[in-house]
Amino acid sequence: MKVLGVSGSLRSDSHNTCLLRAAAELAPDGVELEIWDGLRDIPPYDEDGDVEPAPPAVAALRAALAGADAVLFATPEYNSSIPGQLKNALDWASRPLGTNVLRNMPVAVVGASTGMFGAVWAQAELRKVLGAMGARVVDGEVAVGHAPTRLDAERGLADAELRERLADVIADLCAAVRVRAEAVAA
Ligand SMILES: Cc1cc2nc3c(=O)[nH]c(=O)nc-3n(C[C@H](O)[C@H](O)[C@H](O)COP(=O)(O)O)c2cc1C
Repeated sequence: MKVLGVSGSLRSDSHNTCLLRAAAELAPDGVELEIWDGLRDIPPYDEDGDVEPAPPAVAALRAALAGADAVLFATPEYNSSIPGQLKNALDWASRPLGTNVLRNMPVAVVGASTGMFGAVWAQAELRKVLGAMGARVVDGEVAVGHAPTRLDAERGLADAELRERLADVIADLCAAVRVRAEAVAA
């Protein structure tokens, strides 16, 4: 099973990308979590430019999503919402609306912020956007507040309770993939 990890942060030392690396370590046997790194290259959404062939970076995004069984998003919170570049990428991914690559795909959302709440508002916004696109948004939240004290490149996600919650979210995401596969096979 292949899970694509999408970080909403472009920052080289991003806590959210670090959270995805922790998720990759916690993925069950047989589940590969690959972190997508093309967010920076996505051009501003332009409906005039949303034609075939798509801009190369957008085609790569759509292919990466289509090649996954599920997607795990880790988002920072910018001014109580999701980062503009993440929303921009999702606007590209959402077209064509009826057949977009995330339609019916299991997705889950986690997040980290330097504030105390762990990007909960951004996570809620992201779940709303993904739901509007037709993705199957799995319940479950991991909100890493005060991220610099809990996440770093050397130790990863040190907090045992947060690790357990993150493992639960990944397990639920994988379960949703199996349910979808069974429904398709039936
Ligand atoms: C433009 C901007 C807006 C921000 N707004 C919020 C906010 O509304 N709530 C919050 O908890 N943190 C906010 N932050 C702090 C981010 O949570 C923090 O920079 C976080 O580390 C970003 O995630 P990253 O480490 O994955 O890049 C903001 C940061 C920036 C740069």
